[in-house]
Amino acid sequence: MSMKLKFRTPAKVNLTLNILRKREDGFHELETILQMVSLYDELELESLPLGIELECDTPGIPTDETNLACKAALLLQETCRVEDRGVRIRLKKNIPFGAGLGGGSGNAAGVLMGLNRLWNLNMSREKLAILAAELGSDVPFFVTSPCALGVGRGEQLEVLAPCSKFQVLLVFPGFPIATPWVYQNLKLKLTKRENNISILRKFLSLSDIASLGSQLHNDLEPVVIQRFPEIQIIKDELQARGALGVLLSGSGSTVFGIFNDPEKARVACAGLNGEWERVVTETIGSFSEFLPGEILNYQ
Ligand code: C5P
Repeated sequence: MSMKLKFRTPAKVNLTLNILRKREDGFHELETILQMVSLYDELELESLPLGIELECDTPGIPTDETNLACKAALLLQETCRVEDRGVRIRLKKNIPFGAGLGGGSGNAAGVLMGLNRLWNLNMSREKLAILAAELGSDVPFFVTSPCALGVGRGEQLEVLAPCSKFQVLLVFPGFPIATPWVYQNLKLKLTKRENNISILRKFLSLSDIASLGSQLHNDLEPVVIQRFPEIQIIKDELQARGALGVLLSGSGSTVFGIFNDPEKARVACAGLNGEWERVVTETIGSFSEFLPGEILNYQ
């Protein structure tokens, strides 16, 4: 008899992203604070006797083994030597692709956690996080904690206690940005600015959103704004509408503004001049806000 699991996978924003140096392996050493927000893709996993299949409602998203969700299922199959178990993955995308919101990474993490349950693999979250790192730098975050400090290439995580909920207005300019292009065009400064991580951590722990907003920083922003000036226009608009802080998320293309009042966030969202897709989200404080108990309570 086939079994089904249905659940959601969230988006993330980077509240800060500092690039430290380029590594020998081509990746960049960085420090980032990642925070899950309440924009979700929908995943359905249905057990099959054999094979890995993916269906996606959004045209343009690959449904073959190049999709990170399929890669996650394949990696789990190989690692746990369960080639005799299969899955049909149905994916409904709400998180835009190439947006710096980690949508694909969240999907892959969801497949790992869901299949762990569906295939009765009994793997710990720590083991899943190690597998997740093989899939991409952001994937381990989505199996670890709603808020975390990421170092290394972003895959080494320290769990941060969630701060009280605040609103994150996401503005998507309508075009994707390829992460490798951003890193390739990065001009690393020799004189480094002062490290803001400890200050940000302090404001997070105090749930001081106004001070947090004043400290948002992303080293990838200048190269992206130079190539896509519309990003600066969105930043200026968000600032003018009263956001406490405004930043490009990850390598873009989404710009977000933070608010400590849902009504102010809604008014800003409605008032933005521009044809951009936008949505008011709020920060996620616990996995239980989006994962069903049967996955959550496993291991
Ligand atoms: O790990 P992920 O697949 O998300 O990385 C995509 C690309 O982004 C890498 O191929 C690399 O070009 C760049 N990257 C980087 N340093 C990081 C993370 C990503 O240079 N820490």
